[in-house]
Amino acid sequence: MRTVKAFAPATVANVSCGFDILGFAIEGMGDTVQLIENNSQELRVVSITGDGGRLPLDAAKNTCSVAIQALLDELGIRLGLDIHLEKGLPLGSGMGSSAASAVAALVAVNELLENPLEKKDLLPFAILAEKVACGAGHADNVAPSLLGGFVLIRDYHPLDVIKLPVPSELHCVLLHPHYELRTEDSRSVLRDQIPLKYSTIQSGNVGGLVSGLFLSDYGLISRSLRDVIAEPYRAVLIPGFYEVREAIKSAGSLGMGISGSGPTLFSLCQGESSIPGIISAARKVYESMGLGVDAYHSAINTRGAFVIE
Ligand code: HSE
Repeated sequence: MRTVKAFAPATVANVSCGFDILGFAIEGMGDTVQLIENNSQELRVVSITGDGGRLPLDAAKNTCSVAIQALLDELGIRLGLDIHLEKGLPLGSGMGSSAASAVAALVAVNELLENPLEKKDLLPFAILAEKVACGAGHADNVAPSLLGGFVLIRDYHPLDVIKLPVPSELHCVLLHPHYELRTEDSRSVLRDQIPLKYSTIQSGNVGGLVSGLFLSDYGLISRSLRDVIAEPYRAVLIPGFYEVREAIKSAGSLGMGISGSGPTLFSLCQGESSIPGIISAARKVYESMGLGVDAYHSAINTRGAFVIE
């Protein structure tokens, strides 16, 4: 029986100004999916570790099996697979947990089928799985998890995904406070209408951030990390948001925002020298609020998801 194992990394979606259209991948953390062919012609979610028993084993609801089934249906293939998911990412953290599971599953099944699809063509199936997992088919976690680096979703209909350059000194700090925020809840506080003046500010910053990445202009990146559309509404769901942002400013943060739908916060920085100061300043704020926090740092992951064996 054939077997394949694949890994997909955690991601930071939105990157402040790019709500639903910008994201990047981080090193080290992510989910692993192993597929083992079976004789049943059915997808079976056999084991999930690292989720505290909370994710569904029902193949109609699990993000891995939903993604795989969509791909098999598109290719007109019937295949029996046992799915083993190792969660390396906390649920409801804003680090692209559901996206990493779906992407790892798709990369694994594509390899098992001897790669009938190019990596980027796996994206629509991952978006579908995101919709099942959190009610919204956004691509700003699945695209960077799959492709690595910084990714812009220029359009969803039809899908137009653009890989952006990654300045070599760019690093990221992630601050994950010990509580959960469901993407559905964090999306429900957003407004349907955007005042024209905010649309102007946001467009300027998206353009600025993309230009900053192309030019490796860290000052421009820093000035562009501003979100007037989602952050003001979401910040109220995230204790310590403004205090942490203020505290890490003088520690060398280029800018800070909500990672995806939160509650994890991300900060970009140039080089690694400011990382210890950023983490220690943030920790002090969380401690003063009685909140536990896990801090990670990483370069930008430019590889994306890959087959392990
Ligand atoms: N763009 C999505 C949102 C990302 O902000 O809701 C969710 O991780």
